[in-house]
Amino acid sequence: MPGLMPRPRTCLIRGGAVVNADGERRADVLVEGETIVLVEAELDARALPPNTRVIDASGKLVFPGFIDPHVHVHLPFMGTNAADDHDSASRAALAGGTTTIIEMICPGPKDEPLASFEEWHTRAAASSRCDFAFHQAVVRWDDLAKSQLRELVDTQGQTSVKVFLAYKGALDLPDAQLLELLDFSAQEGVIVTAHCENADAVAYMQARLLAEGKTGPEWHEPSRPTCVEADGVQHFATCCQLTGAHGYVVHTSCRAALEQAARARKRGANIQVECVVPHLVLDDSCTHRPNFEGAKFVMSPPLRTFADQQALWEGLASREVATIGTDHAPFHFATQKVMGRERFTAIPNGIGSIQERIDLVHTYGVCAGRLTYAAMVDACSTQVARTFGLFPRKGTIAPGSDADIVVYDPARRGTFRHADNQGALDYCAYEGMERIGATETVLRRGEVVVEHGRTIAPPGGGRYLRRERRTS
Ligand code: URP
Ligand code: ZN
Ligand code: ZN
Repeated sequence: MPGLMPRPRTCLIRGGAVVNADGERRADVLVEGETIVLVEAELDARALPPNTRVIDASGKLVFPGFIDPHVHVHLPFMGTNAADDHDSASRAALAGGTTTIIEMICPGPKDEPLASFEEWHTRAAASSRCDFAFHQAVVRWDDLAKSQLRELVDTQGQTSVKVFLAYKGALDLPDAQLLELLDFSAQEGVIVTAHCENADAVAYMQARLLAEGKTGPEWHEPSRPTCVEADGVQHFATCCQLTGAHGYVVHTSCRAALEQAARARKRGANIQVECVVPHLVLDDSCTHRPNFEGAKFVMSPPLRTFADQQALWEGLASREVATIGTDHAPFHFATQKVMGRERFTAIPNGIGSIQERIDLVHTYGVCAGRLTYAAMVDACSTQVARTFGLFPRKGTIAPGSDADIVVYDPARRGTFRHADNQGALDYCAYEGMERIGATETVLRRGEVVVEHGRTIAPPGGGRYLRRERRTS
């Protein structure tokens, strides 16, 4: 009948403890269509439309959908391609409570930004079950790259880029170009995320260790020790300070790097810090495992010491570390990590964690007394949304926000097991570690996409997110 619009579906999440970055409270959450419309202490279910879906969250936590600020899905890297595609990565992400991912577009040095954006966007739009955005890696800097990046900012809301102060000869930018890019980013309100190491020092150390016959995965960490990372942070922060750019240091792994970031902030550099779950819960002893198993744990920056883990947790508690991502970069053990059997420098760098992030932070952060629930939500959702121009659409449970909601059972206990993974990777880096808590139900923009911990959404329902420019 003309003029009669079907009512949007309604869903009531009843009786849970709603956790936002500013605290938790017992509340019911009403969702209409894709949006949260009410968050109230007690909603009268009788006043709702008869077909309202009611999800009983009593005894459960109700979190805003988690956002992973650092993910690699389509990743041509070190002579191979990462093991997931957008279908498998997003299936695993949702199962772990992550409803939005920000993926690194990592083109080759000759590729043009518009073409690489198109390639990544087409792949993700075809099969991502999560909402998605991108950080555009800048691996060339010339007039063409500059005009195309400006176009991406203007027309696609593509307001963050990535630079590598690492992977010499493959992805790094010379300083003169880095400074120009930072200057451009400051003018355009674009945030610059950076992998910070001293690329020349890494190349020198790798060559030296190999020449000494030190070829196993356990030599990966000594080839890029903490001082090399701290040097990279110091260098990047100096360049940000000179240009007025807003910098974001990805996958910060150690106390020395945190100290450099803190010093730079005191000097006036606008620098934020991200850490990623492998550095929070695994340490360098993993790379010493026999039968080449250590290769499963090779990532850059490398896994560090227990003391460095402590420094990261303390930084999170004081909110000096803003966000927790994964740096999900999965490479199969049986067919890809083994490429580095003869020399550690050929082991594809990366660890898969997209499904495990929230349970790891819950188990080893909140349950270990290192983080409050509010701090967990802040680091894994709210700060990510604020930093990357998605707040308050994402990152909070509040009227008007997207209905990305995770109903979480904090009491479920078990261990991490590869058998439970819903991604493609052939191993789980956290196998056998204790796990407390589990994602039970997930809504992505009002649609139930995970039930009883299993992703039920078909591939392709994820939406590309245009983002705001930075104004400070
Ligand atoms: O080891 C890592 N982190 N691999 C993925 C690429 C990167 O550096 O982020
Ligand atoms: Zn990196
Ligand atoms: Zn990365």
